[in-house]
Amino acid sequence: APSGSALRPVAIPAAPLATAISRLSIIYGSQTGNARRIAERLAAEAEAGGLAVRLVRAGAYPLRELAHERLLLVVISTQGDGDPPDDARGFIEFIAGKRAPRLSELRYGVLALGDSSYPRYCAVGRALDARLEELGAQRVLAHTDADVDIDSVAGPWHARALAAAREALKAPHASATVTPLRPHASVAAHSRERPFAAAVLANQRIVARASERDVRHVELSLEGSGLAYEPGDSLGVWPENPPALVDALLGALSLDGEAAVHHDGRALPLRQWLTREREITRLARPFVAAHAAHAGDVELNRLLAPDRAAALGELLRNRQPIDLLREYPAVWTATELVAALRPLTPRLYSIASSRKVVGDEVHLTVGVVDYEAFGTRHHGAASQFLAAAGDDVRIPVFIEANERFRLPTDATRDVIMIGPGTGVAPFRGFVQERREIGAAGRNWLIFGNRNFHNDFLYQTEWQDALRDGSLHRLDLAFSRDDVMRIPRKSPHIPVRTSQQKIYVQDRLHEHARELYAWLDNGAHLYVCGDATRMAKDVHAALVDIVATHDGRDRDAAESYLSDLIQQGRYARDVY
Ligand code: 2AM
Repeated sequence: APSGSALRPVAIPAAPLATAISRLSIIYGSQTGNARRIAERLAAEAEAGGLAVRLVRAGAYPLRELAHERLLLVVISTQGDGDPPDDARGFIEFIAGKRAPRLSELRYGVLALGDSSYPRYCAVGRALDARLEELGAQRVLAHTDADVDIDSVAGPWHARALAAAREALKAPHASATVTPLRPHASVAAHSRERPFAAAVLANQRIVARASERDVRHVELSLEGSGLAYEPGDSLGVWPENPPALVDALLGALSLDGEAAVHHDGRALPLRQWLTREREITRLARPFVAAHAAHAGDVELNRLLAPDRAAALGELLRNRQPIDLLREYPAVWTATELVAALRPLTPRLYSIASSRKVVGDEVHLTVGVVDYEAFGTRHHGAASQFLAAAGDDVRIPVFIEANERFRLPTDATRDVIMIGPGTGVAPFRGFVQERREIGAAGRNWLIFGNRNFHNDFLYQTEWQDALRDGSLHRLDLAFSRDDVMRIPRKSPHIPVRTSQQKIYVQDRLHEHARELYAWLDNGAHLYVCGDATRMAKDVHAALVDIVATHDGRDRDAAESYLSDLIQQGRYARDVY
């Protein structure tokens, strides 16, 4: 369960170099806010314990100061299959590269966050840890990988890190002056740990009945919450698990939902543990291991061997705990079950509105996870919770700021927005905001989905925006449309020329010259949506486009794009 204080440490300005010897620096590279949360909590406690602390995100870290650090803790998350978060790319490349300084005076520890259903789980953290050692630095904390169940590993790491920091700063050259305790920023009324119970104002399907997937536009009220957000931020949602799935688990294990279960110093009925406190829609390695032991199943045990990582990854992706229980029957007690399942974690949704337009409301674009597998219906926790929510339900929510995914402060800059599927959500907020502030820069949206008639999310809003001049270009890629069924009149409807699917990156290629001209003119580029395939393919297309239009080779094109990322002009919100 989430624990710790909701205190946020005050951002500490860069201290002069001379004080680096007596200071703990904490650098975080965060994609969805988890690394930042852990780093902030660590900084707050280290400060409360009297240490001088500098907390800084990797993208804002002045690299030339690295050589002067004496004690450094890095918390870094992994994007998809072992890659660094965009914000940490410069930092990681600098340390990995030839220009990295010798660090023989440095003591350090690295905590890597990742998802063990990917084969290269936490790869970036491990590489960083090894490289710091190679540069002469001394590891004071064993390298640690945390899986999606972050808190179970981050908690103990946190305690070890604080102890190591205290120990290290007692070193001969540590300053004798005690750092005064800083007053903390006032505690926000609502946070991840203390969510606001939001009323549902609207909840409507925005795809045609014929669409294969349900997508919903959900409007929630933040009235009285004190919560504020910027376009690009995310809304954290604490879901309740589907009641039918809770019943299925109770049934499969013949357990009584009303029986009190003591765990972690709390006593709740089992049904409540399974509804509000535990992940039951996602399967993770620790539960597979526990279940293999319960079932005494040789086949399942073999899947946990290091050389079967791919097969285990496959199993984790396709199944929920209930599937495993049905496939490999075993006996569990209620207490064992609660202990073995991971704590429920909130889901983050990109916010699809601008407060300047919707006031106290927050809008979301929710793709409903609902599929048939192993003979039963499967649902996602949060999307099902939101899809089923009516007037009678309150949704526990909080704001997760996303500093890296913000509109240009200079409103005369153009923006290019690439958002297939529900990835279009933040761009609805962007266009609302830019219209409201009368931004002079142009707005170009590239949207894709399966089918024009069924899945053109917010079609009329985009058409209105084109008409009123708040959207300057709209390019569309409908991947499953048959050329015969497309009316050819509209200039915005693509015409298929081959059997190949058309994706957003194909539109980028088609309009490469113009895209490059926009970028060259200082445009900001945004990508939102699927991380594993789409964002990679779009990036590859961008490399091609920059390479052809600037006469560069691929390496030069890559570094052109890296520069854009560094400058905050190429931002991705991908999941
Ligand atoms: P598909 O499902 O027909 O393959 C939103 O999900 C849209 O993104 C769909 O049109 C989907 O097409 C498309 N899509 C799937 N894979 C993609 C990729 N690698 N790059 C870009 N778009 C992709």
